[in-house]
Amino acid sequence: MKTPLAAVPPMGWNSWNTFGWNINDELIRTTADFFVESGLKDAGYEYIVIDDSWSERQRDSSGRLVPDKNKFPNGMKALADYIHSKGLKFGMYSCAGTHTCGGFPGSFEHEFVDAETFAKWEVDYLKYDYCYKPLSADGATLYRRMSMALRSCGRDILFSACNWGNDNVLDWIRSSGAHMFRSTGDIQDNWFSIKSIFDSQVSHQPYSGSYCHNDMDMLVVGMHGKGDNAEVLGSVVGGCTDIEYKTHFALWAIMNSPLMIGCDIRKMDAAAKEILTNKDIISINQDIECRGPYIIRQWNNPENVFALVKPLSTGDYAIGLFNLSDKRAEMSLQFYDIGLPVFSGRGLDMYDCYSHSSVGTYTERYVTQLDSHDCAMFIAKVVKL
Ligand code: GLA
Repeated sequence: MKTPLAAVPPMGWNSWNTFGWNINDELIRTTADFFVESGLKDAGYEYIVIDDSWSERQRDSSGRLVPDKNKFPNGMKALADYIHSKGLKFGMYSCAGTHTCGGFPGSFEHEFVDAETFAKWEVDYLKYDYCYKPLSADGATLYRRMSMALRSCGRDILFSACNWGNDNVLDWIRSSGAHMFRSTGDIQDNWFSIKSIFDSQVSHQPYSGSYCHNDMDMLVVGMHGKGDNAEVLGSVVGGCTDIEYKTHFALWAIMNSPLMIGCDIRKMDAAAKEILTNKDIISINQDIECRGPYIIRQWNNPENVFALVKPLSTGDYAIGLFNLSDKRAEMSLQFYDIGLPVFSGRGLDMYDCYSHSSVGTYTERYVTQLDSHDCAMFIAKVVKL
């Protein structure tokens, strides 16, 4: 039997957050080199994705997309070969509208010929945006159409939809055949953006699952306010603290978002590398059952302090404790709330995903003080006392 794509959330890197339009063949090749050298590949990251502005402004005389001759002088097939030679997969970008968000040709009414072109270039992943969609064209139909074009193009191409949550996407995206879907606007490299994406996505958890994952947008971990993309840098200079990047990664991981790195990995600092390659946090995200977490809010600080609890296929539970408030705060997870009353005669053996060791067995509750914007992540095992 053919192995289906995207059983678990895809992991990789995308050029947009740091480089915007400033992309080229050499950047993508050196990024692929670093993927291997830095240990990202070993940690499970797989897709190298080129975002917007890779093409010429016009299609060729037969209506086909043409790579920008200055940015990608060797063409896309040669680049795909290079990425594949590293044991990695190659992703590209197009748009359901007449133009991409950057004004390059979109795939509207060219879906089948473009899917054929991507297959010819040996592309493994297509991000599909929503700018310049004709107002009178139905978005669901356009995603179904591109999905069909990809599914019939003769190559396995993971379909990454990106319509920012518009037009009731949750109702129709899984049945369109897409493997992941953005349901938020664009992330920025600041804490406010991370927190607002969490707030807008927590209610979407029931809609995400194997083969069609809710995408909370690319990661900003390690950007520290650097890059060529003013839209992602926003007006806040300096990006986030390492604690905020740690919490951002933990939220995306336990909420089963695809993990697409957005920093310049060639210049990634030690803190970013540690966050992005934490094998315990990644294992929570990549759990084969892909169950979204439920939320238990702290009784006296419900908006910003909470636990996310996710059942794992091993029988264990991933537990994240989060403090998104601007002050140090207590988080007390009452085990009654997750199905474990004291009279059960059982407790939780808590394994800390940052110290990579057990912190002991607890009954009735686990209580901790969390610094502002910090989190704690555990894998908990139910044990007889
Ligand atoms: C949209 C998408 C972004 C990025 C840009 C490229 O804004 O949401 O992720 O792909 O387009 O122009």
